[in-house]
Amino acid sequence: MRLAAVLALAGAAAAVFAAAALPVRAAPDGATLYAKCAACHTKTGAGVPGAFPPLGPDVRTKATTEAGRRYLALVVTRGVSGPIKVGGKPYAGVMPAQGTLDDASVAAVLNHVGTEIVKTGPEFKPFTEAEIAAHRATGTALSAQDVGKLHAAAGGQ
Ligand code: HEC
Repeated sequence: MRLAAVLALAGAAAAVFAAAALPVRAAPDGATLYAKCAACHTKTGAGVPGAFPPLGPDVRTKATTEAGRRYLALVVTRGVSGPIKVGGKPYAGVMPAQGTLDDASVAAVLNHVGTEIVKTGPEFKPFTEAEIAAHRATGTALSAQDVGKLHAAAGGQ
């Protein structure tokens, strides 16, 4: 019995060491990643009139439809260039693709925007890494201008 207990403990300890040796991938932090977006869209998401659209209730409205969710994923992965209207105001600038963000990071930053930056609008359903991967795969041939053309069908104002 005693030996069995010792062996069991040794086994458990080995399992702990084995688990610790696995490469652990920390979940990306949406709040930290949002600093990239804040450079243009501002810290609060208010944006800059005529230049950088606000990240407001429009984002949550878009996130209620499949076309809108694809649009949001592609805006980040491919960039977007208008003319588009956000919150009723026209924008015709260029957002560069945020190419350094992997799928989990895109999901994390969009979820930060949908919950912490935007506090009003329809209920926000979080993005998963798998959902971003699927949308990214459908958009590999799209330019920022092409993504802009998806805006009309993406909902919002
Ligand atoms: C270099 C400036 C810049 C950065 C950095 C940037 N954006 Fe943008 N973003 C823009 C511009 C400009 C537009 C509008 C494009 C246009 O005028 O056609 C835009 C549009 C958008 C839209 C579409 C809004 C709508 O309702 O259609 C979303 C969503 C968005 N950005 C999210 C983000 C997120 C999330 C990040 C960070 C990962 C980010 N942006 C980083 C400049 C930027």
